[in-house]
Amino acid sequence: MAAPSTPSPIPIVRDVPALRRAVAGLRASGRRVGFVPTMGALHDGHLSLIDAAGADDHAVVASIFVNPTQFAAGEDLADYPRREAADVSAAAGRGAELIFAPTTEAIYPDGFGTTIHVDGPTAVLEGAARPTHFDGVATVVAKLLIAVGPDRAVFGQKDAQQVAVVRRMMRDLHLDDIALVVAPTVRDDDGLALSSRNAYLSPAERQSALAISRGLRAAEARAQAGETAAAVLESETRSVIDEEPGCELEYVSLVDADEFTPVEEAAGSCILCVAARVGSTRLIDNILI
Ligand code: PAJ
Repeated sequence: MAAPSTPSPIPIVRDVPALRRAVAGLRASGRRVGFVPTMGALHDGHLSLIDAAGADDHAVVASIFVNPTQFAAGEDLADYPRREAADVSAAAGRGAELIFAPTTEAIYPDGFGTTIHVDGPTAVLEGAARPTHFDGVATVVAKLLIAVGPDRAVFGQKDAQQVAVVRRMMRDLHLDDIALVVAPTVRDDDGLALSSRNAYLSPAERQSALAISRGLRAAEARAQAGETAAAVLESETRSVIDEEPGCELEYVSLVDADEFTPVEEAAGSCILCVAARVGSTRLIDNILI
């Protein structure tokens, strides 16, 4: 006889009609709704977004959906960690009240034919390295925002370019009555930015991966000492990462925080962005300058 499955601590809905009924239920008592979109394999970074979404007694809806359209052929869609029961408990433990974990068919039914393409902040870095990635992100985030209809949506600074793309998409599609909240990057004690993809790292690779945050911190220290030249800040990060043989730098670039255009001098709000490969795992990180 199969072991009885543990009942979910909070409701899980699998399609948009059920989601809409459940969100209407949360709003029935006059509460507002905060939304956290995720691909699951939740860690403390994701859980910090749930905290931010729930501020001022907003009811928190979290989605768990490994969105196939943001993965290119040959990327890690098939291997992406999936552990729904643990995710639901963790989200509920942090105060989420509803989980939207749709089937792929509920999001992309047969004949689905709409793609949202954002120009501007998609032109460089992750957009250049992964040419179809942000179309998939913009399309699914727009669909999720329309389906949930939250008062606020929370995203992590860890994926700074994604934030710039989502902000542009929300403005262009009149979704900007939803407050976009950006939560700071949560790191392990040793500096490594939490990521679902850290699960792919062997212990030795994890050590190598620390060069990324070390390199960013070195540039941050230079910036705090008054250095503004992008070339100097970038080369500070590059030289720290190049010293670590297990960590192969893909790019380091200082960009404007809104447009994601590369800048020559740090002025106003800039972000220093890194992508690097550690073994077969591709990691990204950034710091505000
Ligand atoms: P995912 O990688 O699961 O991340 C979900 C959210 O958690 C994103 O907003 C991401 O920036 C944030 N996040 C990840 N690591 C973080 C950390 N260390 N500290 C703070 N926040 C962190 O990003 C996606 O999923 C997808 O692209 C999605 C937006 C869900 C669309 O499919």
